[in-house]
Amino acid sequence: MSPSAHNSFYSIASIPADGIGPEVIAAGIETLQALAQTLQTFELQFHHYDWSSETYRKTGKYIPDGGLDELKKHDAILFGAVGAPDVPDHISLWGLRLAICQPLQQYANVRPTRILRGTESPLRRCETGDLDWVIVRENSEGEYAGQGGRSHRGFPWEIATETAIFSRHGVERIMRFAFETAQKRPRKHLTVVSKSNAQRNGMVLWDEVAVEIAREFPDVQVDKMLVDAMTTRMVLKPKSIDTIVASNLHADILSDLAAALAGSIGIAPTSNLDPTRQHPSMFEPIHGSAFDITGKGVANPVATFWTAAEMLDWLGEKDAARQLMQCVETVCESGTLTPDLGGMATTKDVTAAVVAEIRKLPRS
Ligand SMILES: NC(=O)c1ccc[n+]([C@@H]2O[C@H](COP(=O)([O-])OP(=O)(O)OC[C@H]3O[C@@H](n4cnc5c(N)ncnc54)[C@H](O)[C@@H]3O)[C@@H](O)[C@H]2O)c1
Repeated sequence: MSPSAHNSFYSIASIPADGIGPEVIAAGIETLQALAQTLQTFELQFHHYDWSSETYRKTGKYIPDGGLDELKKHDAILFGAVGAPDVPDHISLWGLRLAICQPLQQYANVRPTRILRGTESPLRRCETGDLDWVIVRENSEGEYAGQGGRSHRGFPWEIATETAIFSRHGVERIMRFAFETAQKRPRKHLTVVSKSNAQRNGMVLWDEVAVEIAREFPDVQVDKMLVDAMTTRMVLKPKSIDTIVASNLHADILSDLAAALAGSIGIAPTSNLDPTRQHPSMFEPIHGSAFDITGKGVANPVATFWTAAEMLDWLGEKDAARQLMQCVETVCESGTLTPDLGGMATTKDVTAAVVAEIRKLPRS
């Protein structure tokens, strides 16, 4: 496709990778292209990269030499999932996903969660609108900084260290981003998640910086929760929460819980953002490669559709993003749901239904 003069044009790198990644990314691209053709306000060109565990097995590398420079040419990256049964998870995660997020300084990981129309929370009496959260995850350091090592391998006195890193620079920038995110939402409420009772250095710096940055945002109401107490609050008082900021590890865990409380991990999106916009940001469903359902055609594509909407929003196509989510929720409401949401539909059924809804949209 060549760009037309009047539309916004975006070049998107697609990395479907492993397991159900290729299934849901194919669904996402079909839906995005239908949206672009129908609305005619923007154009997308996808460049496919076959970086996966299969590439790793063949070449010894997930990302070929020069691969990151190649990615930098695009406006955004649409990512599936990485992980294969015969490759250790720390090799696949550090070989591909973290090998993109960290050098491209995608330091803000944003994970919205809400109960979509037509879906149900496993929580009794929790309806659409009762659970509407955004989790902001520090995405460049903390517990996943990659600091540590192993010595005396195989001996009884073998040791391994995994050191969490909290830099003032890193904490300040994620706190500022989280306060800005909370400020843009109607409730203007931020919960800072911590574990500073037990982790008395890094997490204490985390808390102190949160207090300092809060002074820049007097209109944002802020509270602090220890991460263990946060899990119970998410389950027992979901309405009391709006925006959450947490460290790399804490938010990783809390966001899977959030997705399950909203109905399924199969609906939850993630954005790995470089808020400076110096580098392309990367968008992916929260879920992993889901070996247990790979190839069965039942992977829920809704997480990827929502991810695609988040990508459009970040690129500036806010109306298109909103309309895509309306189509997705209309399809959920019609009962076309995959088994994880209690339905019988396949990935293809849900995708076809969303595309059919998109085709009904008026040309902008
Ligand atoms: N960002 C990533 O690339 C990422 C994230 C998490 C896990 N992983 C990797 O994925 C592999 C499997 O990890 P896991 O089993 O812990 O997590 P997972 O998210 O792949 O699966 C957990 C459960 O959720 C279900 N599930 C996930 N996505 C679904 C969808 N779209 N529709 C319906 N059901 C869905 C799976 O069937 C499984 O029962 C591992 O190698 C892990 O390292 C990668």
